[in-house]
Amino acid sequence: MNHTNWYKNAVIYQIYPRSFCDGNNDGLGDIPGIISKLDYLKELGVNCVWLSPVYDSPQKDNGYDISNYRDIYKLFGTLDDFKLMLSEMHKRGIRLIMDLVVNHTSDQHEWFKSAISDKNSPYRDYYIIKKGKNNGKKPPNNWSGFFGGSTWERIGNTDEYYLHLFTKEQPDLNWENPKVRNEVVDILRYWLDMGVDGFRCDVITLISKKQDFKSRFPSIALCGKDAYIMGPKIHTYLRELYDRAYQDYDCMTVGESVLCSLKDTISLIDPSRKELDMIFNFSHTDVDNYFGVKYFYRNFKLTRFKKRLAKYQYALYQKGWNSLFLENHDQRRSTGRYGTIERGPLSIISAKSLAASYFFLQGTPFIYQGQEIGMRNPSFKSIDEYQDVELNNMYKMCQNNGFIKMLIGKHLFDVSRDNARTPMQWDDSKYFGFSNNKPWLMGTDDNKDRNVKDALIDKDSLFYFYQSMIEMRKECPVIIDGKFDLLYKNNPNLFIYTRTLGNQQLLVICSFSKKEVKCPIKDLTGYNLLLTNYKEQKDKFMPFECRVYLKEK
Ligand code: NOJ
Repeated sequence: MNHTNWYKNAVIYQIYPRSFCDGNNDGLGDIPGIISKLDYLKELGVNCVWLSPVYDSPQKDNGYDISNYRDIYKLFGTLDDFKLMLSEMHKRGIRLIMDLVVNHTSDQHEWFKSAISDKNSPYRDYYIIKKGKNNGKKPPNNWSGFFGGSTWERIGNTDEYYLHLFTKEQPDLNWENPKVRNEVVDILRYWLDMGVDGFRCDVITLISKKQDFKSRFPSIALCGKDAYIMGPKIHTYLRELYDRAYQDYDCMTVGESVLCSLKDTISLIDPSRKELDMIFNFSHTDVDNYFGVKYFYRNFKLTRFKKRLAKYQYALYQKGWNSLFLENHDQRRSTGRYGTIERGPLSIISAKSLAASYFFLQGTPFIYQGQEIGMRNPSFKSIDEYQDVELNNMYKMCQNNGFIKMLIGKHLFDVSRDNARTPMQWDDSKYFGFSNNKPWLMGTDDNKDRNVKDALIDKDSLFYFYQSMIEMRKECPVIIDGKFDLLYKNNPNLFIYTRTLGNQQLLVICSFSKKEVKCPIKDLTGYNLLLTNYKEQKDKFMPFECRVYLKEK
């Protein structure tokens, strides 16, 4: 099958199903709800949707714990609803990529239930089960996982433990076992045959583990990571999935990476290696923390942000393809982040400047639901209002350990994943037009000014700004293929870059300053202004002003 690389021209909208739209008013988003909003997505102009997991699941980690890979979680709908959604998307020229969560399953998956209840189970070797130390009193080694604590859970009263890099309800699959890989290939082909267009591969850089399973030198976070991030067989496994599944479909893959270096990124997406098409790399979202640990907060600095983004722009040019994103279901909202203003008259203006700064880079832009209307963090005041398993685990650890509390406690709520998971705000009614009943996670009243109904009425809204940017991508090849160059990299207020293709040059200038600033580029002869967030242009750049120019040489 010829791969058309359609993803290079795509703008992908991420839907977090439980928070997008509630079709049956039970307080939880669902597939019929999504179907009812497809015209909205069409109006925005996106041509692909990434759907976070809708598979059958006990929802311990909101669907990232799958108990049946071939069916739909019943509160989200049925397989028929899914098929209808897919065909309604395709009718509108919108492709669909699904979340592929195969580093781990749910502990309620039949494979796991059988594996731990019977030593002779054919599924025993689907998981990573090891003998504990001291006759089973201690785990096999000192590795620690992503939600804090040991990566091992004891199996009943036995002397054996299973590995879980996330919650204990998410046991890791044993990719060394060829039968596991056969299962994954079958799952991929099942959905691809149904017509889905690709996958966002959850924590895919964790699937191969070093097989020594020895303790590592103790560390505060992710002890043992050298054994489970970018393990020795990662490339072999990914290539196998390509050869046995992706190859036969015109599909795309974007892999979620964890602490992935530039070198690793290139090795995973180099087209000649046929592994993945894109990687989500978090170097730019880690701009406001230390060591890639979100709890270790630090102030945003534009020069650092530019440097990180530019590094990937230069390195991947003609070698791979970037994913471009600011938000997702694990990140807090970008409104009020990355130097932008959370409230008041400059808020939407600054959100537009930030949006333009990432949207015209080379790569495929992703928009997370609500980002296009500038949704904010809910800023809940008490732990009882948060539901996220990660936050709750971390909170407990802080309660039990003063040292951990001192290290990470201060910003626990600020960085909570629930910040991105409050219901999509369709209007300013009691339950945000999301549902007629109390949503599973509430938003807050002081954020209701950010809603779709108002955004569609206001021609100056962030929604229409995104719509214009999407339209521009469809019309200007330079936005897709132009070579990137960062200008004035040390300017602390302006993000300035060009994209050049043949005789076309795009010039993007985005201010991240609350004050008026001088632009170092004086001569703009021949440049036509295509997009801006201010009605009139003066010599100086107004607070958070952005301008996108096109020049035909
Ligand atoms: C990454 C997902 O984005 C996150 O939401 C989830 O908790 C973990 N992977 C585990 O699947």
